[in-house]
Amino acid sequence: MDKIHFTVNGEQISISGSEVSPDTSLNDYIRSYLSFHGTKAMCHEGGCGACVVSVSHTHPETKEKHVFAVNSCLVHVLSCHEWDITTVEGVGNRRDGYHPIQQRMASFNGTQCGYCTPGWVMNMFSLYESSNKTLTTQQIEKSFGGNICRCTGYRPILDALKSFATDADQRLRDRVQDMEDLDRIKCLKRCEKKCSETEEDWCVIEKENVALLHVEMKANRWYKAYTVNDIFQVLNREGTDSYRLIAGNTGKGVFPIVNDSRVLIDISSIAALKEVYKDANLVVGAGMTLTDLMATCVRWTREADFQYLQQFHEHLDLVAHVPVRNIGTIGGNLAMKATHNDFLPTFFFCRTVEATATIVG
Ligand code: FES
Ligand code: FES
Repeated sequence: MDKIHFTVNGEQISISGSEVSPDTSLNDYIRSYLSFHGTKAMCHEGGCGACVVSVSHTHPETKEKHVFAVNSCLVHVLSCHEWDITTVEGVGNRRDGYHPIQQRMASFNGTQCGYCTPGWVMNMFSLYESSNKTLTTQQIEKSFGGNICRCTGYRPILDALKSFATDADQRLRDRVQDMEDLDRIKCLKRCEKKCSETEEDWCVIEKENVALLHVEMKANRWYKAYTVNDIFQVLNREGTDSYRLIAGNTGKGVFPIVNDSRVLIDISSIAALKEVYKDANLVVGAGMTLTDLMATCVRWTREADFQYLQQFHEHLDLVAHVPVRNIGTIGGNLAMKATHNDFLPTFFFCRTVEATATIVG
């Protein structure tokens, strides 16, 4: 029997299907099923950042571990296969001690009601870890467009975060305080209650392919594909009358999904859709995330023929925000334009970056 496996704060989670419903986001699962209430939710559209968590995952193409922030309200929990997820409780807490990012948010008065604070902390934690703790002030200033605070004001928050920059100014360095005496009261006993909202119509059937995962419910079916061939296998089996390819699922934040397709295919782990190579043009896979595309632009800008990618990189820096760009893909962006003609796509003016549109469907 297939299962979806992932960890949350080091705890192994296996979902057989009956625990979740077609609408269960990672945020729902963390808060309602695991009772980690530190991760908040407000807009459910990827716009406020209250729900940000950190993910460590092996990149399908480079095979390297990478750490990135995601909006847990946008990610379907079944998309989390083989992810190691850290919530704000896993970064630091009263029982085990706080992380320096949490300490500085407090000592810089970067929090009032605190509702937004876990999101800021988790976005910063992900950036900090993924950059090997070598962030510049400018990088930090540009990375929080997706975090909103309604009551503190942004200066103390940004001061707290910018105090981690390698080029932090002396004023901030002088303000960094020793917080080692923070209270460490043991109080985070996990809720033991078992959720009663299980839906019996979800079950798992035996997989027919070594790699292809398949979770089934009454009206919808979820597959996790590892190769392009897997996608066609599913379509041959299920037909093409009603299917949706899911990579980051971030489009849900722009155009909410009311009645989902009968067949859902998770394509986020297909390495072939994340490739980049050069023939006459620079060709990038449609499954590449916008964050990876930005890194690709930086890399290829060094070549004389591709210096224009500097402008492309600057444009991408204005698209959505870091957690959305971390899982949102080029193909998803174009597919959204194909479905919603009023959507202004990221790649509206793209001429020489060619998305391999075979997955757009
Ligand atoms: S709840 Fe607002 S971004 Fe997720
Ligand atoms: S501290 Fe209240 S919303 Fe940010």
